[in-house]
Amino acid sequence: MKFFFSLALVSLVLYAIFNICSKSYVFDPVTLNTICNTVIYRHQNVSTHEQTREMFIDLRNELASVYGDENINHYKDEDWFFNNAGGAMGQMIILHASLHEYLIIFGTAVGTEGHTGVHTSNDYFTILKGEQWAALPYGLEREIYKPGMTHHLERGLAKQYGMPKESFALELAQGFIPGMLPFGFADGFSSTLDVKTLYKTTVITAKDMVKHVILGMKRHFM
Ligand SMILES: *[C@@H]1O[C@H](CO)[C@@H](O)[C@H](O)[C@H]1NC(C)=O
Repeated sequence: MKFFFSLALVSLVLYAIFNICSKSYVFDPVTLNTICNTVIYRHQNVSTHEQTREMFIDLRNELASVYGDENINHYKDEDWFFNNAGGAMGQMIILHASLHEYLIIFGTAVGTEGHTGVHTSNDYFTILKGEQWAALPYGLEREIYKPGMTHHLERGLAKQYGMPKESFALELAQGFIPGMLPFGFADGFSSTLDVKTLYKTTVITAKDMVKHVILGMKRHFM
């Protein structure tokens, strides 16, 4: 009884924090699309690892100049980690994570295919390099997204998606982010058992969320 009461209380507090923070999103998908296109235009040749990395660093710096350095994590090679979810496997680096938004670079050097997951948030997936393919259950022809295009996956919808080798995107999710975490973590616990990756995912995500909850509270109350 006590346990359920505590759980309800914690949920209520988290929900109250979320409600306050979600009144002001940091990012908007239209501006992100413009920034991506500006950066893509500056990096016409991204055929090698180094050229691609330079584009990502340029993107990180461009985002920081628009949204403030405190809102975009620094680009560090060691902050990339694997994500297994919905049968797909990819690589990601977190640029920003809070309770109501995350901004990441997600992609795959090898190529992958799987289920997008049914999410409690809106998802905006802007291709930086390569392609993304997607289809709804009744879609008999794939949707194709190319560099500079944004694929908007609406809250509550699910698609099958695929990305050929060496495809990467800037992904913005806006909504109730904790609701997306079980999907992001399930394969780690039930399938890969890659403890190092789970640890890295948890530490990096939690650190950023706490930081932005505090920043969000400050913005709201001070
Ligand atoms: C792109 O860069 C690579 C590596 O530097 C080079 O080999 C290739 O010729 C370049 N392609 C074009 C079209 O400039």
